[in-house]
Order: sequence, then structure tokens, then C-alpha cells
Amino acid sequence: MAYAEETSALVQRLSELSTDLTAAERENLKFLLSMAAGGVLSGHAQKIPEPLRRSALGTTQRTLPKLLAGAREKFPTGIVYYGLAPFLSDADLSALDEESRAFRPAAERFMDHYVASGAPTARDISLSPMVLSFLTENVGEIAPTRRANYLYYDEPGLGIDPHVDKDEFSLNILTMLEHRAGSGQRSELILHPPGQDAIHLHLKAGESLIFFADSVTHQRTRTTADEAIRLVSFGYRTLGGTHE
Ligand SMILES: [Fe+2]
Repeated sequence: MAYAEETSALVQRLSELSTDLTAAERENLKFLLSMAAGGVLSGHAQKIPEPLRRSALGTTQRTLPKLLAGAREKFPTGIVYYGLAPFLSDADLSALDEESRAFRPAAERFMDHYVASGAPTARDISLSPMVLSFLTENVGEIAPTRRANYLYYDEPGLGIDPHVDKDEFSLNILTMLEHRAGSGQRSELILHPPGQDAIHLHLKAGESLIFFADSVTHQRTRTTADEAIRLVSFGYRTLGGTHE
């Protein structure tokens, strides 16, 4: 059976279907596809023959960006920027670092990591003109969601399984504040762009990743003993138009 051809046809049919859906229905379809992609990647589909599994994964991963408007097609890996961010000053980074430490006691467990929200400095920096103009120049019109979370992976075995994010973090700036190595293999961020090898990222303190978290499946591998990771995550929505 020609799975590759069937995958292409199905991606096309699903994309066409999505144009007839309401926004809420499209969200549901997106959610189903992202759950399916996460399930296949997490190894919950071991009994399904490999070619069919690959085809199912390809269909979900290739359909997701098509359901979402904006500049996604310009970034086939989902990555918009990776490195030391020109839009964050040293003062911004140290203010975020300090606030992240202060908010650790307020962080709540979410799945297999800890999250602190409502921090004022993080929110202000996520709305700063430097950050917003960088995003607009690179991906076109965006809307900040005013969501800025501190993330903590600072106990052994913390991490997050393959998933795509919800609307509030469609476009995500993820900045590493601290990664203290443990005794075992370092936890890493892995992106799974469709039809390509997985991308393994080791963000260093002060480095940022900007990516389309709503359309590229991603995960963080588990922390080992003594390892501690602190990140800050800013959320944005894209508004459809690209900046050509
Ligand atoms: Fe995520």
C-alpha cells in the first residue's frame, strides 16, 4: 500500500475540510491531531505496523501547520529563532532570573514539571517594544497573550512528553535562565518537524528559542539526579498576515 500517497491525499482532504469548520471545530480537530501525534511519538502505538505509524504521524504533523494561519509555512522546522536573543538585554535576563527564583515556591505542578504564572516582570518583558518588534519583523502581525510562565524541571524525572501547545502559546519564546547539569545525561528539548529528523536543542543560559509551539510537536526529556532547569516562556498568537 502506498502510504506516502495516501498521507498526501489525506493531508489535502483534512486541509480542505478545515476551511468549512467553525473556529471551535477547527480547534477540536487540531487538538485531536496533536493528541494523535503525541500518542504515536510517545510510543503508545507500538502494536501498529511501522509504515502505518509513520504515515499517521506524517499526516498529523503536516496537517497541523495547514490548519493554522500565518507564517508557519516559511519555517519548515517550526523554529523562527534560536540563540542569544537581541531583544533581551542583560538587565532583562537578570531581572527574569531573579524573579524566576523568587517565584519557585509559588510554582504548581503541571503534568511532569512546575509552572509559576502571574509574575509581573516576565509579563512586562513579554510586552516590551523590543520583543514585539522582533516578532513582527520575523513572522508578521502577532498578538501578545499576556501569558508569561516560569517553568521548573528541578527534580529527578521531570520533563514533558511530545505535545503541541494551546492557543495562548501558539508562538512561543522560550528562554533558558539556568541549566545545572546533573550526574546523568542532560535533559534536552526535542522538536519533531514533519518529514525531518528530530532536532535536539540544548539551550544555554540566556539563549532563547522562538518557535511555533502549536504546530510542531515538541518534548523535554527527563531530568536526572541533581539536574535543575529554569526557563521562562512567553506566549503570542499570530494574526494571519505574513510580513513579506
Ligand atoms: Fe510546549
